[in-house]
Parts: sequence; C-alpha cells; structure tokens
Amino acid sequence: MIETSPAPTISHDKPPAILSLIGDTPLVEITQIDTGPCQLFVKLESQNPTGSIKDRVALAMIEAAERDGTLRPGGTVIEATAGNTGLGLALVAGAKGYRVLLVIPDKMSQEKIFHVKALGAEVRIVRSDVTRGHPEYYQDVAARLATEIPGAFYVNQFGNQANPLAHERSTGPEIWEQMRHDVDAIVCGVGSGGTLTGLGRFFSRVKPRRGIEIILADPTGSILYEWVKTGKLVESGSWAVEGIGEDFVPEIADMSFVTDAFEIDDEESFATARELLHKEGILGGSSTGTLVAGALRYCRQQTKPKRVVTFVADTGNKYLSKMYNDFWMAEQGFIHRAPHGGLSDLISHRYEAGEVISVGPDDSLLTAFKRMRQADVSQVPVVDEKGRAIGILDESDVLVKVHRDPAHFNDLVKNAMTDRLETLSPKAKINDLLGVFDRGRVAIVMEGDKFLGLVTRTDLLSYLRLHMPKSSVPVSREYS
Ligand SMILES: Cc1ncc(COP(=O)(O)O)c(C=O)c1O
Repeated sequence: MIETSPAPTISHDKPPAILSLIGDTPLVEITQIDTGPCQLFVKLESQNPTGSIKDRVALAMIEAAERDGTLRPGGTVIEATAGNTGLGLALVAGAKGYRVLLVIPDKMSQEKIFHVKALGAEVRIVRSDVTRGHPEYYQDVAARLATEIPGAFYVNQFGNQANPLAHERSTGPEIWEQMRHDVDAIVCGVGSGGTLTGLGRFFSRVKPRRGIEIILADPTGSILYEWVKTGKLVESGSWAVEGIGEDFVPEIADMSFVTDAFEIDDEESFATARELLHKEGILGGSSTGTLVAGALRYCRQQTKPKRVVTFVADTGNKYLSKMYNDFWMAEQGFIHRAPHGGLSDLISHRYEAGEVISVGPDDSLLTAFKRMRQADVSQVPVVDEKGRAIGILDESDVLVKVHRDPAHFNDLVKNAMTDRLETLSPKAKINDLLGVFDRGRVAIVMEGDKFLGLVTRTDLLSYLRLHMPKSSVPVSREYS
C-alpha cells in the first residue's frame, strides 16, 4: 500500500524525454460544422504533456530563468496559479529537479489540486475572496514568498517576457508551416496575453504587408472585449470559462495586435465545446468553446474564403464533471428543461430517465454504502422490481446496523431502511418541502404510484440560486 507520494527518482542531468514532446502539436480542419465560406483549423494544444498550451510557456520561462541565473540548482519555483500554468510548471520544473510551490486560491477544484500535487508540487491555499492589493491576494502572497525563500524564482506569467517569446518562437512558426504560409486570421483568447503578443509579433514579421487578422474571443464579463472595441476600462463581471478573460490588462498583453473582437458568453462557449465533441470528435476545454464560437462567428461573417486558425487550448478531460456533465449544466442553468411548475422542476435526477442512484430491498448494506460513496450522496431510495419507491436508506440507517459489528454490512437493505416515506405530489409547493426538510428527511416525489425522483435540500438550494436576481450575483473569475 502506498501511504504517501514517493520522492521522485529522476535523473536531473537528463530530464525525462516527455519534455521533448512539448509543442509541435497537430492542426486539424473543422469539417462537420458550418464555417461559411472559410476553412477553419484548430491547433490541438490539448496534446501537450499536461494537456494544455501552457506547457510551452512553462518550459520557456523555466529555461529563460536558468539561462539568466535567476533559477539555480536547488532553487524553488513559485507561481500563483492552480490553472494550466501550474500543471506545466509542476511537470517541467519538477522534472528538472526544482522545488515547486504553487499559491492557489481556495475556490479551485480539488481535481486540479490533486493533479499538481501528484506531479510533486507543494501547495499553499489562500483566500479567493480578496482582490488585487489585499495582502492575501494570491499573486501578492506568491510575490512575498519569493522574497522570503532563499533561491526562489517567482515566475509571474503576467509580466514574464519569456511567455510571449515562447509563442513567437514555437506556436507562431508551427502554424505558419502547417498552414503552408497561407493564413488570413487567427482567433485567440487572452489569459496572460502571452499567446496574443507572441503570435502578433511573429506574424507581423513574416506577413508584414498584407498582414494577418488577429481576432480576440473574450468571455462575457471580462474587460478585454470592451477595451479593444472602445478603449474603455469597464468593471468586470463573472464568467465560468477557465483560462481566458481578465479583470485587468496584463503587462505582457499587447492588445494593439488585435484587429477585431467577439464577446462570447458561458452558455455559448459550453454549447460550442459540446458541439465540437459531438460533430468533430474533439474533446476541448471550456475556453475552446469560446475560441471556436468566436472563430465560427468570424468565418460566417466573411464574404470571401479565408483560412482561419484557432486553438483547442486545453483538454476537455479536465471538464468532464462540469461542462460535459448534463446535471452540472442543468444545475448551473446552461441546459434548460421545459418547466412544468411545481416540484418536478426541482428534481435534478429523474428516475424514469435512469438518472437516480437507487438500491433494491434485497441488496446488501455494503452494496448500498458503496453506491452512496461512488455517487457522493448520503441517502438512496429503495426501489422494488415494479419501480415503486418503498423506502429510503441513509448513512445513519447503515451506521445503526454496523457500528457494533461490521459483519452487518451483509444485512439486507429492507431490514435497515426507513419505510415511512415523505411523499409529495409533483404539484406540491416549495413550502411543502420545508416541512419535510425540518423533519430531517428528503422528499420523494410520486405521481400516483409512479416514482419520479427525490428532492433534497441541495436540489432546493440549487433551484433557488438559479432564480437569484442577476444583479445580486457576486462577481467571480476563473484563474489562468
Ligand atoms: C485554457 C487557456 N489557457 C491559456 C490560454 C492562453 O492564455 P495566455 O493569454 O496566457 O497565453 C488560452 C487561450 O486561448 C486558453 O484557452
């Protein structure tokens, strides 16, 4: 049994060969989605070793710091991120034998934190509810740690010139070759601005006369779209797409390269990413949806054929439980079910559609417990072979049976479940639910004999959150 992560046994004189697979990513044409008179190509940055475009800049920033002596053997690499840059740094700097310390806002998903830790990075969790200038703001914490730890190198992707240089020297030339020197427009997003600035510099050099159009695709809520269109700095809003969009103009972002911009909201981004997977078989992340949506709008507006490139900036594997999960999409209000009025609208998992995790009366408590753990729920309905809900089993019912003798995990569900059910008709009102919750139970929604599904406190809270007035939704952003 492995109890802790083993210390990496890597020869640092010769880093793992996986680093040589950073960059040189494939370019694929979109053939199944309407691109108007244009040809649209996507560059699969998802094929980099940690699954994103940021591996390129992680490698470039580490090697630049090694060259100029800011990073020496035994040094510590510090960055404020749990996003793709953190993964790239954890891989590259870890492989080269440096200590990696990532300062991560406390709202980042556990999956991302597990991933950087599994790569060997150390993690310092800080508050996500404070902004620039506050001593606990994640970037300020990282900058401070870098002054306190001897031999520390603060990467600072937002102000590090090696970041755009990586794209000027690798991403740009690759696109130019893959498109056989025939490209009219590139659609990109801005997180730190490295991609935009690097591509802008490269293409203005290789195609100075006829030029190239550089189109920004920006999430609604980010300030960059408005900045490009009007030169005004507006107040930022919130968006759920990850890796792009900003509430400030990053130091390294040369926005003068941008020739036009599109603003894409979360709903369109997610729908486009899902369409890209369905129709083209390409599993991209949430920002891929924004970029492809922007590129499609651009392509469809053209009157002459053009050759256009955009990015699958990271892999959709990181978003399987969010954007690619119908329940999450419905809970967030991105998939709309026809409202019926009454409690049916609060049922997140419908029994008839096979969405409810349930057990049978003759299953063992062990089976029931494993199913609850697997689905991360604390109770399951007990449904007989005729599809009738005949009981409910929660963790305390199991605990009562097994706490003295764990052999009772072999007992049958029917001997442990509660059969006094709190059933409600789909026409019942929210107030009827409150009484059920007060008695510490979940509501079982039945239409006559037919079991429709459960309504839990979480379902009610999610429903109410979706009906919150837009003006009172707090601002939040995702990190690069
Ligand atoms: C997920 C993701 N990360 C990063 C980037 C590029 O960000 P940066 O501006 O930091 O180069 C993009 C751009 O499309 C992106 O989609």
